[in-house]
Amino acid sequence: MQEQLQELESKALQDLQGIDRINELDSWRVKYLGKKGALTTILRSLASLPLEERKSTGSRANQVKVLLEDKLREAEQSLRETQLAADTRKETVDITLPGHAYPCGHLHPLTQTINEMCDIFISMGFDIANGPDVEWDCYNFEALNIPAEHPSRDTMSTSWIDYQDDSGDMTMLLRTHTTSVTARTLESMSPPIRIIEPGKVYRYEASDATHVPMFHQIDGIAVDRGITMADLKGTLYEFARRFFGEDRKVRFRCDYFPFVEPGVEMAIECLACRGRGCRLCGNTGWIEVLGAGMTHPKVLERGGIDPKIYGSFAFGIGIDRLPMLRYGIDDVRLFYSNDLRFLRQF
Ligand code: DAH
Repeated sequence: MQEQLQELESKALQDLQGIDRINELDSWRVKYLGKKGALTTILRSLASLPLEERKSTGSRANQVKVLLEDKLREAEQSLRETQLAADTRKETVDITLPGHAYPCGHLHPLTQTINEMCDIFISMGFDIANGPDVEWDCYNFEALNIPAEHPSRDTMSTSWIDYQDDSGDMTMLLRTHTTSVTARTLESMSPPIRIIEPGKVYRYEASDATHVPMFHQIDGIAVDRGITMADLKGTLYEFARRFFGEDRKVRFRCDYFPFVEPGVEMAIECLACRGRGCRLCGNTGWIEVLGAGMTHPKVLERGGIDPKIYGSFAFGIGIDRLPMLRYGIDDVRLFYSNDLRFLRQF
């Protein structure tokens, strides 16, 4: 039996040395020290031995047990340390490696354009005002000298909105131009006034390369004593110079808008052909960029401002076409399709 114990001990220790993973230790423990393990089997059989032999074999068996238990603990500890060292090595952070660059977004090209235009007018003393997209007829039309049945209503392809509340049926609309904010501004402010009004406008129209049912405008209005057409031209020349460049020619021509008298349109020399005539400018050499004029006396009066005391000019600029001209974009729908390959270029 002593021999058996000796053999067991060396076999167990040899086995233990071959173990290099901590989760294999438990099967080793079960095999040698467990309830049905080799050592326990020997210890059980002690009972059948004569007393002397039982004592000596018993104490030897205990020695083996204590030794194996100690070795098991040692092995466990050393494997744990090896594992920890390996893990630490694996998880070490190399602070000299370059970091992950997070892509940074940027403003939409239309927003960039609006901001740039606002900055130009703000530097000339204008403040920004906003009005609602869902508007009353009176601010979009009536107050701007466009009564019901006025033919210019037809040119604006209005989206009408019918709804009911306690006082009955109401008709509203999606504003067709930001000039509606001019009507509100005249009503709520008193001179001197210098306001620009950027925002979305809506027309009930099918989309194509040059039309979308929602686009952007900036209107502006200045009201003060002694304002003349020279102020209008000076302000809009300055805008054109700053936005389109110093040397770009600018042209004013008569135009008609119900809310101004006289009315003008401003055109710039074509960006593509510099005035020689091309497809972009329809061979005219000029590209119309805005409408403007001296605010109609009726519009001022409706806003509570006396046209005999105050002069006023107003203008309205379509925004979407400007970055199209500047970057040579030939389809306005690209601004609204959220295609990142397009948007990332700006
Ligand atoms: N509201 C006009 C449009 O959408 C543009 C316009 C023209 C605005 C002349 C003005 C103006 O304020 O004075 O076509």
